[in-house]
Order: sequence, then structure tokens, then C-alpha cells
Amino acid sequence: MTASSPSPDGGEVIETRLSRVDGLAGELVIGGYRVEELAPQATFEEVAFLLWQGRLPDAGELESLHSRLAAARVLPEASLELLGRAAASRMPVMDALRLGVDSLGLTLTADSADEALAARLVAATPALVGAYWRLLQGEAPVVAPADLSHAAAYLFQIFGSAPRPEAARGLETYLNTVVDHGLNASTYTARVIASTRSDMVSAVVGALGALKGPLHGGAPGPAFDMVFDIIEKSNDSGRPLADEAEAWVRQAVAAGERIMGFGHRVYKVRDPRADVLGAAAERLYRGSDRQEFYRQAQTIEDVAVRVLGEMKPGRNLKTNVEFYTALLLHGVGLPTELFTPTFGVARVAGWTAHILEQMKFGRLIRPLEKYVGEGGRRWVPLAGR
Ligand SMILES: CC(C)(COP(=O)(O)OP(=O)(O)OC[C@H]1O[C@@H](n2cnc3c(N)ncnc32)[C@H](O)[C@@H]1OP(=O)(O)O)[C@@H](O)C(=O)NCCC(=O)NCCS
Repeated sequence: MTASSPSPDGGEVIETRLSRVDGLAGELVIGGYRVEELAPQATFEEVAFLLWQGRLPDAGELESLHSRLAAARVLPEASLELLGRAAASRMPVMDALRLGVDSLGLTLTADSADEALAARLVAATPALVGAYWRLLQGEAPVVAPADLSHAAAYLFQIFGSAPRPEAARGLETYLNTVVDHGLNASTYTARVIASTRSDMVSAVVGALGALKGPLHGGAPGPAFDMVFDIIEKSNDSGRPLADEAEAWVRQAVAAGERIMGFGHRVYKVRDPRADVLGAAAERLYRGSDRQEFYRQAQTIEDVAVRVLGEMKPGRNLKTNVEFYTALLLHGVGLPTELFTPTFGVARVAGWTAHILEQMKFGRLIRPLEKYVGEGGRRWVPLAGR
């Protein structure tokens, strides 16, 4: 495989075997499997192996990866100490996670870039989020039992007890669904850093910085807040939910705001991940006392798509992955502050696979710019300006 030349016109910048996004057909293929088939059935460990190795593991390989991940969940003392200081200053979780991943460099060979390091980063990321969340609540970090799956261990690291199997499966489906997605902003960031022959930790730290922005990984928290706000307003006013949603969305769009959870740079039809996560959320809420909440969210989604179609004609603003991320992760029991960090917990497997691919096959990524500034100016000394 060879890397494509950087393209100045928004065309293909890299070649990858990791995932294929077809924005017009609404298709996502991860490691050769359609996301609808892979995400609800695979374990996260199988998906990580698939991305790193290009094939699914056999039983022995899976067991070996499971043991390596379990061992790497134990965080270095220095990282825990740093998280303690971050918690004392109430640092946002994504910033503490970025700091925590960077601190792993204290105990790693910074310039190594192999699958063993990728596995360490994948194991450490949820451990850092869990430990930091507990420190923020004034609780001591815990180490998850080695026999728990990656997804279940993450919930243990947050809540301090083994999760319900349905919650662990719901989370695992989420992690698989968002593990990789073409050349999205954070993956591109990671690949650019890796393309300079920098190190894997630097590339993951950079990717985390890109992920936290509200136009990328920061959307599910606000999407959830919108759903909650509309339901609350409808309860208070006694107006039907659909009417309340219509007024809310119209007012926000008229004020120039973006409705979080809708629109996508690549998908011009419904994001296929929304359906996978919607089905997982539906399974999780079914039969619970929160079933009504799920139905209400669907009503709000329908109204938002209709109003966006009307107020932003021709922009094809459909539901994206973040809307159902919010519902699913809420159903799993995660607080909104952990929605974006949990995206990072999933995507770190994709980032590390891209970093390895870039380091093995890629060239320096250096797209061309289009200059739109001034030219032909003459220097004027300070006294004459
Ligand atoms: C994802 C996103 C950044 C992609 O946007 P993009 O391809 O850069 O599209 P643009 O920013 O060029 O927007 C095109 C038009 O659609 C509008 N638009 C795009 N997404 C919108 C949204 N969610 N709500 C309201 N209007 C939106 C823009 O305001 C713009 O309108 P205009 O032409 O009248 O100025 C954008 O859809 C967005 O901000 N969505 C909300 C955040 C979100 O859910 N992010 C997660 C993505 S998975």
C-alpha cells in the first residue's frame, strides 16, 4: 500500500484499510464489516484486534489481548497523582484525560510505536476517565477485576461495581460503532502528527484535543440537554411535546444556533450509526421505566429533522451519531460529563490503528493552502505607521 498525495481540494488525502464511509449511500464499513453487523455482535477487544491486525482474532489471540488489556488498566502512581491535582482544580474531564494520557509518557518508551503500546493506550484511557471521575466525586480510584470485558471494566472503573450485563452490552455496541470513521478531524490530527514520525502518545494527545470540540465529539452532551429541556418545558407548559420541540428548534435555528446531533460533513443521508445506536438504546430502554423517555426523544428527533429541512433547505441536515449516543449513554447510566470522554475511550483504538498504519505506509501529510491574504506590501518603519 502507498499513501495518496495530499490533496489541496478536499479530495482523498490518505489511503486506509481501516474504515470506509460512504456519505451518499449512508454506509460505514469497519475492517471490511458493515457497522450494522459488526457493532452489536463483536466484543470491543475483537474490534480493536481487527483494526490493528486486519482480521478477527482466534480464541487464543483474543484471550491474550484480554490479559494484556487487563494488566495495562493499572495506572502509574504518577498519573494518579496528577489526576488528583486536576480534580482539586475541577478540571473538565476531557482536559484531565489529555493530561493523563500525556503523563503515561513518564512510564513508556516515548518513541515506541507498536501494537503493544496501542493496547496500553486503549487500556489506560478508560482507566484514566474512571479514576478521574471518582476523584471528582471525592472517591478513591478502583482497579477493575481482570476477568471483566473492556466495556464492563470501564463501567466498574467509574461506578466501583460490576455493571448489569445489558448496560455493558449497550456500552460495547456504542464503543464498536464509533471506534473508527474515516478521516474525521481527530483521526486526521493523529495521522498528521504520526506522519511527521513523532510518537504515538503525542498523536493520541493531539487527537483528544481535536475530539473535545463541540463540532466533533462534544455534541452529545448538548444534544441530551436539548432533549431534556424540551421535555421539561412541555411538562411545565402542558403543550404537546411535538409543539414544544418545534418552537424550541425554530427559535434556536432562527437565532443562528446549531442543533446538536444533526448534520454531518460527509453523510448527506441519515448517519448509519444513528440506527445502530438507536436500536441498542431501544433494547436498553425496553421494559424499563424510562421507555417513555426514549419515545419522547424520537418525537423530538422527527420534529428537528423536519424543521431543519424547512429552515435550512438543501443542506440535508439529518440525525447524526451524537443524538443516539446521548440516549444510549444515558441509558447505560453515564452522566453527560462522560459522554465525550467515552467517545475517546472508543476512538483511541481507531486512532492507534491509524497511527500504526500511517507510520508503516504513509508519507508526510502536507496539504496545500490557498492564500487569500495581501501581497506586494512595502515595509513602513514604526515611526511612520
Ligand atoms: C457536523 C457539522 C459541523 C458539519 O457541518 P458542515 O459540513 O461544516 O456544514 P456547514 O457548517 O457548512 O453548514 C451548512 C449550513 O447548514 C447549517 N447547519 C449545519 N448543521 C446544522 C445544525 N446542526 N443545526 C442548524 N444548522 C446547521 C449551517 O448553519 C449552514 O447554514 P447556512 O448555509 O445558512 O449558513 C454541522 O452539521 C454541525 O455543526 N452539527 C451540529 C454539531 C454536531 O452534531 N456535531 C457532531 C457531528 S458527528
